[in-house]
Amino acid sequence: MERVKTGIPGFDHLVKGGFPKGSTVLLSGTPGTGKSIFALAFIFNGAIKNEPGLYVTFEQPPEELKIQASLFKWDLGALEKKGLVKFLYVPADATDMNIYAKIEDAAKEISAKRLVIDSLGVFYINTEIYSIPLDIKVQEVELERRVKQHMDRGEFISGGKEGHRERFIYVFIRKLKDLRTTALVIADAEEGSESLTKDGVSEFASDGVITMHYTGVAGEEGSYLEVRKLRYTGHERGFVPFEIQEGKGMIVNESESTSILLK
Ligand SMILES: Nc1ncnc2c1ncn2[C@@H]1O[C@H](COP(=O)(O)OP(=O)(O)OP(=O)(O)O)[C@@H](O)[C@H]1O
Ligand SMILES: [Mg+2]
Repeated sequence: MERVKTGIPGFDHLVKGGFPKGSTVLLSGTPGTGKSIFALAFIFNGAIKNEPGLYVTFEQPPEELKIQASLFKWDLGALEKKGLVKFLYVPADATDMNIYAKIEDAAKEISAKRLVIDSLGVFYINTEIYSIPLDIKVQEVELERRVKQHMDRGEFISGGKEGHRERFIYVFIRKLKDLRTTALVIADAEEGSESLTKDGVSEFASDGVITMHYTGVAGEEGSYLEVRKLRYTGHERGFVPFEIQEGKGMIVNESESTSILLK
């Protein structure tokens, strides 16, 4: 199986060398846990190996992301000029938008091999003004059994707006596969919540889920990540510590990556 390396020191061996090519991986965490930095590293490390990357941002404008990246010596501006990186900025006040078509056009423009969606959080608020050019009824058939069970129990998808939102997010994530990129989709987790994401469906729609935490483990406060799920490959389990260092970026602590058991 072809692997797509994040290039983040210490990370790739947790997933047997990289993400399976073409997979959609959800990166879920509470605010400030390092999701965007992980995603910027993924795009930068691909671009310097001639794998063009598209970064779709609904939150921070591209200029801010480039400044953040420059603190780690990742010159995304230079790669952008070479057509190896592209930012697509969708401000929160954008209205009536065929969001999928916009992403598809931008990905085609640079022949993107890597894709980042930062983040799904805005979909939670804005789904009503976005659209996807496909027959959602056809896609519904694909809904996984587990999601369907929730629906059948009436937990969401009641035909009202709530249900429409979850369905939209689910279909959107599945539809990203058609772009034939390896995708990282950032989701916001709620502090103290059992659910991996706020929307409750994106974790089922994705091939993989990585959670990021700032927490106390074994009495030590720090940053940790965990590979919760990754289809088509084996992977390490448990919380693995990482650091974000000025001038260097994100570094996953390999020596401790045999995983700390929690719970
Ligand atoms: N130059 C730096 N040196 C060390 N740590 C940094 C540096 N820049 C940012 N950080 C750390 O990274 C965190 C922000 O990372 P990032 O923006 O990737 O988080 P996020 O999960 O995307 O947050 P949000 O949910 O708000 O978008 C900061 O809270 C800080 O802990
Ligand atoms: Mg962020």
